[in-house]
Amino acid sequence: MSIFDVAVWKDGRVRMMDQRALPHEEIYLTFSSAQEVAGAIRAMVVRGAPAIGCAAAFGMAVEAFRLAANGPPDNWPAAMAPGMAALRDSRPTAINLVWALERLRPLLEGGEPDRVPDRLLCEAEAIRQEDIESCRSMGQFGADFLPMTADRTIALLTHCNAGALATAGYGTALGVIRAATHRFEQVRVYASETRPYLQGARLTAWELLKDGIDTTLITDGMAGHLMSRGMVQAVVVGADRVAANGDAANKIGTYPLSVLAHRHQIPFLVACPLSTIDLATATGADIPIEERPAEEVTHCLGRRTAAQGVKVFNPAFDVTPAALISALVTEKGVVTAPDREKIAHLFDMP
Ligand code: MRU
Repeated sequence: MSIFDVAVWKDGRVRMMDQRALPHEEIYLTFSSAQEVAGAIRAMVVRGAPAIGCAAAFGMAVEAFRLAANGPPDNWPAAMAPGMAALRDSRPTAINLVWALERLRPLLEGGEPDRVPDRLLCEAEAIRQEDIESCRSMGQFGADFLPMTADRTIALLTHCNAGALATAGYGTALGVIRAATHRFEQVRVYASETRPYLQGARLTAWELLKDGIDTTLITDGMAGHLMSRGMVQAVVVGADRVAANGDAANKIGTYPLSVLAHRHQIPFLVACPLSTIDLATATGADIPIEERPAEEVTHCLGRRTAAQGVKVFNPAFDVTPAALISALVTEKGVVTAPDREKIAHLFDMP
């Protein structure tokens, strides 16, 4: 089982694997301020909804230690405001980022001012640990939910990277896949390459192969063919933000997979922690969708592949309507056919 140092605290700084270098190199970078961590999130050093939440939390802690180096500021909230704003604005779609910042905000006030950096660090570490535990729980819940087959083998399709690399460890969708390897005799994974940023080809394939999980790479357009031939028994993906009604934003290309799964009567599972569910966002239409640089679409491996002068649209996420989600897999259990009431109920559970 792979646990990577996706975003951790080391020697008074934030340490993150540079995911841009994968699958070729395992490089770690360190960051000493909130602005630096925000820059790393923007630049995709770290990506994936829970992972950027963790990174932002450690970004707050390192900022507080930096500010306190010459004595604690008189007004912690005011001193932290620029760094916090930079972190909040680093990427718009995944709600875990805002969730983590809001969880830390109350710690800036009250209590001993000198203790603020330690309090933030302690809470950031708690967020990291809880995320790993949540992933393990949802992995088990999701694996138990998967349809058992006569020969106890299953083929799963996943999109983007919702793995250890996208969380504090273990993964959401890939957590379900990891747990499924203990329930089924054989688990085969189809990883879609995930144009244009290739999280599937670069990251999911890399981390699943490291775990010895049978993985086959396909291009995004091949999923329908596989489903029409009965080659996939379930689709498992992660989410960047789930609205109060169950609509789920995830990596661009997820929505078409849900339509295909519905057409072929294949279970479509969305695995995410409660920190990804945003009750303040009413429906998927209210989720802000990040648009990324045109070069990601016009170029491949640094070389232009598109006709000069062509216009480009590059939304990084799409929204799968709740009606196409067979089950939402969370650390509190599986919600089948998610809707507003069932989702609200999740937050009332102990
Ligand atoms: O643009 P990215 O790589 O940050 O997008 C990541 C995804 O869409 C993941 O599927 C999602 O964050 C779930 S991660 C457990």
